[in-house]
Amino acid sequence: MKDYNKPPNEKKMNIYNPPPGSKGLKYSNKTEDMNGLEEGVVFLPTNNTKDVEKPCGPKRWVFVVAILSISLLLSLLVGFLVWHFKYRNASVQKLYNGHLRLVGQKFVDAYENSSTPEFAALARKVKGTLIDIYNKNQDIGSFHKETEIVAFSEGSVIAYYWSDFSVPKYKVNVFEKAMANIEAPHYMEIHKARNPEIRIESLVAFPSDPDIMKASRDNSCHYALHAQEGVVTSFTTPGFPNSPYPSNARCLWALRADADSVISLTFTTFDVEQCTLGNDFVKVYDSLSPVEAHALVKLCGSFNPSYNLTFVSSQNVLLVMLITDAKGRHPGFKAEFFQMPKNRPCGGVLTGTSGNFTTPYYPGHYPPGIDCVWNIKVPKDKNVKIRFKEFFIVEPGIPSDSCTKDYVEINKEKYCGLRNTFVVSSKTNEITVRFHSDLSFVDTGFWAEFLSYDSSDPCPGRFTCSSGRCIDKSRRCDGWLDCPGGGDEKDCNCTEKQIRCNNGWCKPKYWLCDGVDDCGDNSDELQCQCPAGNFKCNNGKCILEAQKCNGRDDCGDGSDEGSCDSVVTVPCQEYTYKCRNNLCVNKRNPECDGKKDCSDNSDEDNCNCGQRLYNKKSRIVGGQTAEVGEWPWQVSLHVKGEGHVCGASLISEKWLVTAAHCFREENYVRYFDPKLWTAYMGLHDQTDRTNSNVQMRSIKSIIRHPFYNDYTYDYDAALMELSSPVSYTKDIQPICLPDVSHEFPTGKAIWVTGWGATQEDGIGATVLQKAEIRVINQSMCNTLLPNQITPRMMCVGILTGGIDACQGDSGGPLTSIESNDRMFLAGIVSFGTGCARRNKPGIYTRVSKITNWIRETTGV
Ligand code: ARG
Repeated sequence: MKDYNKPPNEKKMNIYNPPPGSKGLKYSNKTEDMNGLEEGVVFLPTNNTKDVEKPCGPKRWVFVVAILSISLLLSLLVGFLVWHFKYRNASVQKLYNGHLRLVGQKFVDAYENSSTPEFAALARKVKGTLIDIYNKNQDIGSFHKETEIVAFSEGSVIAYYWSDFSVPKYKVNVFEKAMANIEAPHYMEIHKARNPEIRIESLVAFPSDPDIMKASRDNSCHYALHAQEGVVTSFTTPGFPNSPYPSNARCLWALRADADSVISLTFTTFDVEQCTLGNDFVKVYDSLSPVEAHALVKLCGSFNPSYNLTFVSSQNVLLVMLITDAKGRHPGFKAEFFQMPKNRPCGGVLTGTSGNFTTPYYPGHYPPGIDCVWNIKVPKDKNVKIRFKEFFIVEPGIPSDSCTKDYVEINKEKYCGLRNTFVVSSKTNEITVRFHSDLSFVDTGFWAEFLSYDSSDPCPGRFTCSSGRCIDKSRRCDGWLDCPGGGDEKDCNCTEKQIRCNNGWCKPKYWLCDGVDDCGDNSDELQCQCPAGNFKCNNGKCILEAQKCNGRDDCGDGSDEGSCDSVVTVPCQEYTYKCRNNLCVNKRNPECDGKKDCSDNSDEDNCNCGQRLYNKKSRIVGGQTAEVGEWPWQVSLHVKGEGHVCGASLISEKWLVTAAHCFREENYVRYFDPKLWTAYMGLHDQTDRTNSNVQMRSIKSIIRHPFYNDYTYDYDAALMELSSPVSYTKDIQPICLPDVSHEFPTGKAIWVTGWGATQEDGIGATVLQKAEIRVINQSMCNTLLPNQITPRMMCVGILTGGIDACQGDSGGPLTSIESNDRMFLAGIVSFGTGCARRNKPGIYTRVSKITNWIRETTGV
């Protein structure tokens, strides 16, 4: 690389050359001059002792002083030089990436290949021009070290470059300011005048990440691809899919299309290291320079095929970059792209009584840098409202209440972020919806419908929320807030099965004193409060506040020692966690929470469990179908000739936990015979069991809990040993077992999953289903199902009905999401009265009560 900043070879100054105009006598080294007498020189006669001796004393003294001051001066000079070069002048490397547009140039194909002479010739000129621009500004030019033109794209010609600067520390601020203003037009003017051959229309420079710069400087993994008219071009990471992508790789794919086209890029398969486990990622840029200001997305982890990973450029280029570290190599990605004509219009005038509209390319990601305006007009005598059915306008680091980057604007109000269905209505027959996307980071956008309504009856046959939303009449006064703001629960006459909250709402009686603030003003929990200065235990007992966190179980159920700020070693109790060194700590559920709570750290041992390795896009609002890889410990147990019969949970490579009642002898079939069963791990769709992500195993042994009672369903738990271990993948992972002291508090939201019936007496689901339910307190559970509940059981459900496990879910997991996003097996689906009936929650085997048996039997 040539260094344009190096001064031309300096001529050595001849120190013997007398400066012009000087007499040349006093300092001349010419020998003849030595013989001539110089003015003022006195030769002392040797007999004049006075004169000879006199200077002897002072001379030595002068000599010493001179030596001292010279050495003082020298050390000062050295000190200054050290300070100047080492500290004041210490330099930092500054890297910039950017692009500039050349005017009046014709783009030729050869510019796409950096090894052609045409590329080299233009690059040389552009580089010279850039350096000229740098040199015009002394705050930039003197620090420039290296510049390279890395690519060209069409339109007329855009040149992409990087530049490397070495800036003294004390000059960094001035330099950065100067670089930020480098696009100022006066540079262009000056330049146009100097070099009419290369005219620059716009120039941008962005400070860049040295790691990313390394990527653009190493050519070993660079690809340049041009879209072919009417053809889809695909590309993959090196080695895909047979071998993992290279480690420590920095790969770039420069995608180009013809001028006046844009690019549509779709990742059809995507599997790189999980975001939280490593540093591998893919970034897509709306430019050929990897500059943050034009980054469209950063992707890591894996995505299931239903996740839409389509991106559209704003111009005719896109850059895909893969950065990997030394560990955690995955298959990588397969992507395809094609070109489409630019200027696809968005927005417009929408008329009629109803209709749909979306952000451009929905459900693909909208392009950067667009503005769309929809003017919606319904018939004159009607009003109009907009219902956003899907809404994803999320920008990294932007909270949904600020909307400073991408947003939707209606009636001067801005909306952004991730939102459930919402309605915006107008009091007239017209409404204007604007959508804005800035230059970086894009999302899926929205899908909305506009509807006309009668101002006197906005929701025919239904209840109208003040926001304009319509809800079913049955939802009015049912204890659930369906309208934003809860208007459907105001001014209700409570039934005898309900309590009246202080705020006027009606709530089911069963929610009284359950430890959860259901009223919103806590009035359902007030009558059951302990006197002031007391603490209310989970079992209802009142103790003095001072007895909380004193290391003693004053409640009798340990709840006063459960959530204390400082973790202390306390005498072991039922509610305390026992470390491997047999010391007990007072912290609730300390296992695998990422913090060392036991002095021997045993609470963080054995924590390779309960983690999802996929990117959750649970953005199907209100949906019940699970996503692929969302519950990787879920197992489907099949019986020969019957298909799916029960669920189970994977707890290690070889062991499953399920319900003991799955192995009862029924109709003369001996279900406890392991030979009858097959376990499917990594399964999502029952009709797709041959999918390569599914691992099928026969069963070596079935061990029912020794105390299982076939009549009461007490201890409804069993272990199954697989014939051979499974290998963990993103779709197959073990769930964590809760410690015996682990608590799942009342009111906690927990997930139940399975292929069971989707309604009472209905048929099983084909695709794995999920439902979120709540832990119900044990005493209420006893009231709801009198004489049935043992300490090994827990009630979990929604008391108003409608959400529950059902036939075919048995044995499956009740998954609790705990701190650090760890998932624990809280329960095993056991039994219920019907399915999803009001006040009939599902009953689950309480796993913490049988953890010791599981661990002893399996060694997990
Ligand atoms: N016993 C059922 C089975 O074998 C599970 C029932 C769960 N019922 C309920 N309502 N939660 O699949």
